[in-house]
Amino acid sequence: MIKKGIILSGGKGTRMSPLTKAVNKQLLPIYDKPLIYYPLSILMLAKIRDILIVVNKGQLEQYKKLLPNGKHLGIKISYVEQDKPRGLPDAFILGEKFIGKSGVSLILGDNFFYGQYLSEKLKQSIKVKNGARVFLHKVKSPEKYGVAKIKKNKIMLIKEKPKKYFSDFAITGLYFFDKNVVRYSKELKPSKRGELEITDLLNKYKKKNKLSADFIGRGGAWLDTGSISDYYKTSNFVSAIENRQGFKIACIEEIAFLNKWITKKHVKNSIKFYGNCEYSTYLKKLIQ
Ligand code: G1P
Repeated sequence: MIKKGIILSGGKGTRMSPLTKAVNKQLLPIYDKPLIYYPLSILMLAKIRDILIVVNKGQLEQYKKLLPNGKHLGIKISYVEQDKPRGLPDAFILGEKFIGKSGVSLILGDNFFYGQYLSEKLKQSIKVKNGARVFLHKVKSPEKYGVAKIKKNKIMLIKEKPKKYFSDFAITGLYFFDKNVVRYSKELKPSKRGELEITDLLNKYKKKNKLSADFIGRGGAWLDTGSISDYYKTSNFVSAIENRQGFKIACIEEIAFLNKWITKKHVKNSIKFYGNCEYSTYLKKLIQ
């Protein structure tokens, strides 16, 4: 069982400047809560309670104001600072101590996932013992992502941002790895863009026949928050669903409470922390 997870929350967010000049992108709002709540909620839905957040050097204090040590959610949150982005697999090198001899999940701080049965799929994925697992989603512009070619649910080929079309299946920013991930990451060489590539890491597992895939089907959503326009589209998506249903997406206290990791008392403390706002009203209803 994978019990540890990393959220890669660094990056300069250059495409969203000037919004990201003073504040880290993952602390900006997607509708009614900071972006970081969404990937955090995904790990929590996967029942992962030991979480490392990789942040930019100098931004640790911003994060700690919002998410101190995780106690209020019945989880453990620790942090590591990254002086500059060196590619996704760098998270495993920075997180070596945290990972130890366990398997680990990685989620990118700016990835948004939503859909029915997602929790079930996540619970299956943490069972990965010997190998790696990715989540694929069909997209209109695969050239912007890591892409996988699939045959009978098996991954035949993986490429990072391929110029020539070969598949619509993007590799989303949610990964599950066995304990070899640190060793394999250390063996990687930087690509042409000067970064360690997650697709190179995945290819190592593929070569050993140890890479499996699950799918976020057309009833689910994997949305981008990379550019300003994508960012607002994702916000609108959340707003549309939440205002229609009355349920919140990625309410981390709700997930912790329903998982029985925290009690009403913890939720009451969170309400105090947030103060008089709509999010608190939602939490009040939760414990009524
Ligand atoms: C990264 C990965 C890519 C993956 C994408 C998901 O891309 O390299 O394989 O599909 O995240 O968001 P980047 O954000 O570095 O362009």
